[in-house]
Amino acid sequence: MTRLLYPARVFAVTLATVFASLAIACGGSDEPKKPATTPQATPTQGEPPAPPAQEAPPTADPAALAARGKGVYAANCIACHNPDPKIDGSIGPAVAGASLALLEARIMRQEYPEGYTPRRDTALMVPLPYLEPDIPALAAFLAPGS
Ligand code: HEC
Repeated sequence: MTRLLYPARVFAVTLATVFASLAIACGGSDEPKKPATTPQATPTQGEPPAPPAQEAPPTADPAALAARGKGVYAANCIACHNPDPKIDGSIGPAVAGASLALLEARIMRQEYPEGYTPRRDTALMVPLPYLEPDIPALAAFLAPGS
């Protein structure tokens, strides 16, 4: 009996081995492919955000500077000066052609540049020192020919 059983057992083991290897082979090929684990594309904490695109400085374009000056003039000067800077206003004189030095002296210090002859001998204009960064724009707007 054992002589008969032994080869049968060997055969069974062999079959089992074959099936097992087949199962492994099939299992390996039929298994749905797992999506490759890609590293998350989230930005690292603490990384500085990309800087915003730099705008061209307004000084680069004289027309843009003058346009900005027009807005500053409309917002701060026409209470006394004429909206048309070539014409006298209700209180202030015409200011077309005012130089950067004259504007700086008037706006910052309520003064006039040395040697300048004022159009009026009154002292009614108030200093507006917060407009310091806008003085070049005002000068561009008031420049002769603009
Ligand atoms: C409160 C009224 C008032 C405001 C606001 C005012 N001005 Fe005047 N400005 C005057 C008066 C009045 C004069 C004449 C001198 C005086 O009395 O101070 C004058 C004089 C000037 C002069 C000298 C003119 C000259 O050639 O003698 C300039 C330039 C000038 N203003 C520019 C400006 C600008 C630019 C602004 C706005 C940023 C401005 N002013 C705002 C009232 C004003």
